[in-house]
Amino acid sequence: MITATQTRRLVSAARKASARAYAPYSNFHVGSAVLSKSGRIYSGCNVENASYGLTCCAERNAIFGAVSAGERKLRLRCVVVYTPTDIPTAPCGACRQVINEFGPDAQVISVCQGKGRIVSNIRNLLPESFGPQDLA
Ligand code: THU
Repeated sequence: MITATQTRRLVSAARKASARAYAPYSNFHVGSAVLSKSGRIYSGCNVENASYGLTCCAERNAIFGAVSAGERKLRLRCVVVYTPTDIPTAPCGACRQVINEFGPDAQVISVCQGKGRIVSNIRNLLPESFGPQDLA
């Protein structure tokens, strides 16, 4: 489990990242922040494209950013998703698969501008998953 302070830092980073979203098509601004086992926090926002299918979600951008920053054996402890909405948003299926790749026991917390919060983990969000162990 992670501390309340770490959770607050993650929520703050995810909220700030949502303000950087490039979402002219959906106008749905998402921010994500991930905590690695190394103790570092990485954030990302959704980046859309005129060719809609090329859009990449905030969660994947945060995780890919962590790898790109040099986390060679990235192990995710927690993934936070922030949306400036009344209700929280759980990660999409593609992001769940990517979270599972780097954090098969990661906590996943969805927060929003409103009061609601979803506290879960990737085992619950992606049961019977396919992952690196299946290729070993
Ligand atoms: N999106 C995310 O960034 N994360 C999610 O968990 C759900 C959806 C983005 C993708 C797209 O830019 C917009 O939200 C609407 O689907």
